[in-house]
Parts: sequence; C-alpha cells; structure tokens
Amino acid sequence: MAYKVLFTTSRGIEDIVVQELNSLNIEVKPKFLGLDGWVWGFVNEPLTLARVCYQARTIYRGLLVLAEGEVRRTQEGLQDIYDIVKSVDWTEWMTPEATFCVRSNRSGRHHYQSPDIERTSGQAVIDKILELKGHKQKVKLANPDVLVRVDVTGERCVVGIDFVGEEAMQRRAYRVYDHPAAINAVLAAAMVLASEWKPEEQMVDPMCGSGTILIEAALIARKVAGGFFRKDNFAFRSLPFFSGLNFDDLMLEWDTRANWSVNAKLFGSDISPKYIAGAKLNSERALVSDTIDWQILDAFELPKIFAKGSVQCIVVNPPFGVRSGSIARAKEAHRVLIQVAEDVLSEDGRLIVITHHPEWLEMLTPVADLIISKRHHVLHGDLPAEILVIKRKSSSSQSMEVHVS
Ligand SMILES: C[S@@+](CC[C@H](N)C(=O)[O-])C[C@H]1O[C@@H](n2cnc3c(N)ncnc32)[C@H](O)[C@@H]1O
Repeated sequence: MAYKVLFTTSRGIEDIVVQELNSLNIEVKPKFLGLDGWVWGFVNEPLTLARVCYQARTIYRGLLVLAEGEVRRTQEGLQDIYDIVKSVDWTEWMTPEATFCVRSNRSGRHHYQSPDIERTSGQAVIDKILELKGHKQKVKLANPDVLVRVDVTGERCVVGIDFVGEEAMQRRAYRVYDHPAAINAVLAAAMVLASEWKPEEQMVDPMCGSGTILIEAALIARKVAGGFFRKDNFAFRSLPFFSGLNFDDLMLEWDTRANWSVNAKLFGSDISPKYIAGAKLNSERALVSDTIDWQILDAFELPKIFAKGSVQCIVVNPPFGVRSGSIARAKEAHRVLIQVAEDVLSEDGRLIVITHHPEWLEMLTPVADLIISKRHHVLHGDLPAEILVIKRKSSSSQSMEVHVS
C-alpha cells in the first residue's frame, strides 16, 4: 500500500529538498499543488517516512497525510476543517490508551486563527472515535503519543500525523553556541547542496559566525543523519502503530550510511574571536572539529591564505545590516566577498551567498567577471532573502541568468 507523505521546508529550496530526498531513496515531487515550502511523495510503509525524517537535513517536518481538502477562508472554513478531519478513521492510528494533540500552521488570510483550527480539529478526532468505538480519546498538550497536524495554506488543508514533533528539524542540537544572526541550519544545508561541493574540494566560509554552514557541510560529507543529535526527540517514537519496534536499534542501522572517517577540506574564518570560539564549540559538539580549520581573519585577507584559483567553493552568509550593524558595513562585506571570490576561486569555482541585498551582488558580479547562475527566493527568519549561486563567467557556457524561485 502506498502512503502519501508531505515534507515541509523553507520556501524556495523545494528543488534541493527533492534532490536530497531522492538520494535517501524516496520518490518526491517539488511543491505540493504549487504551494511554497511543501514537497510531497509516497512511501510503501510508514517506517520509511520515519527513516527519512531521521536522515534528511533540508526538511522541517514530515507528515503522513491522512486527508486533504479545500477550506473556506471565512468563519465557515472551520466547519470544512471539522469535516475533513472527521473523514479520517482515527482508530487505525490510535489505540484507546493513546493520547493526542493537534497542532496547526496557518498561512494566508483567514477569519480564524491556528488555535481555532486546533480546537475544531481536536473535537473532530474525539467525535469520530466516540462514534466508532464509544470512548473519548484523551488529549495531552505536551508530549502526546500522536501529534496530529492540520496545516492550512490559503484554501488548502492537509491533515496528517507529524513524525518529527514540536521541535522542527532546523533546530540542531549541536548548536550550543548561539550566534545573534545564525543562519537557519536547513538553509545552510541547502546552500551546501546547491554548491555541488565534493569533500575533496576546498570549501571556505570567510564570514562563518558560529560555523553553521561548514558544520552542515562536514556532516553532509560524512552522511550523518539530520536527527543524529536528537535521537530521542522524534514524534514517531511514541506512535501506537510502531509499538514493539526498537528505534534505538533501527537508528543504529540507519546510521550505517555515515562514514565518520571522511576528511573534508573546510576552512572557516570570521573577524570576531568570540564567534570563532563559538564555532569551535559547535563543531566539537557536532563531532566534526577534526575536519574544519577555524581562524580569526578579516575576509579581505583570505588571498593571503589561499593562492589564486585554489578554492572551489565559497559558501557564505554575510551581514545584512538590518537588525544589527550598519547598512554601509554590510555593503562593504558584500564588496569584499566578490573581490576575494574573484581572487581565490578556481575556474570552475562557485560562490553561494544568502543575502537580503541581491541588488548589490547584481551590480558587483559583472565587474568581477562573475555571473549569477541560479537564484532561490527564501525567507531568512522573516526577512526575504535570496540564495545566489555565482560562477565565473568564463566557465559558464550560458551567459544568461537563470531565475528559480
Ligand atoms: C550573518 S553572520 C554569519 C552567521 C553564521 N552563518 C552562523 O550561522 O552563525 C555574519 C558574520 O560576518 C562577520 N563579518 C562581518 N564582516 C566581516 C569581515 N570583513 N571579515 C570577516 N568576518 C566578517 C561577522 O562577524 C558575523 O559573524
């Protein structure tokens, strides 16, 4: 039997998620009905979804989809949601002793809020089970056995069982030092994948802050599961239909994909000694400090460390100058990045930048004989940003910009 599954992620990186999930042997399609941040697919058994939620690095959540439908944006939409949730035979997924709770993400304009959706959906689950089995299913708001998710995007409602849990996958447990402008780790992993980097190639992050991008790169090179440092923190562990399975043993089996002896060529630097100390701490927690060289350095000095043409990938999250620092300094940081990229990148080199100011790079790249070859429109926190893939013009057969959203 095929089960429909839905993966949620950041908007704008759906194609990268598809690429990662295909490499984990699951067939998925970009965008669910054209909706941003939704990637859907099919699995033959729910355990495959558990494995993929454990292994993937570019998803927020994975849902086993049980029902879907159109809902009105007016107050009557709550009745539509009630009907969709009640159409599911919940007794297949919950034993009488199991506790449950409903969580909802809503996006778009509606005459109701997420707590209204949660309340209405919870009642629909209780009413359905009462009708079918005559008992009242218990609700538990913290750590329930079954986490039901009812997400509403525009007029689309998806009902499913959340396999990840309250804490989405972008919260990496290795991040013990918190940089004030740290990048979302899912976006960091997506940038590494967008660079098409191989561990034997030199990757540099010259404004590395707490090191998220390079730590993700090291973990990707070693094929370490996204959930490796949060093994106990997965909602699928308490699902009644998995009762009797030993997830500690299964995770060990899923971890056989990893190769901790891979040595990657990773160099991270930042102008701030405090941030480099934080990056070291995080990389130690992530068990990858042996393969990353951290240094305190002003980015413009990078050519003193790397000879002309010796770097294949620069992957970087420069300051935006919006919440802290100044716009002038952020603009200068973007200028320095292009200058060092021109200097140290190899002929087939790639510069991957996440920025809130793509217009600065649009102006700077042609002067440096670089070209923006791909763009991903994402959100960095709540700020619109773009991940730009920049290459040398000479290495690019097409000299036209490609736009991807
Ligand atoms: C947005 S933060 C990077 C955050 C990082 N991606 C993380 O996840 O922690 C930008 C970083 O650029 C650094 N920076 C700014 N100008 C720099 C320069 N000229 N040379 C080196 N680092 C610089 C700042 O100290 C800051 O840590």
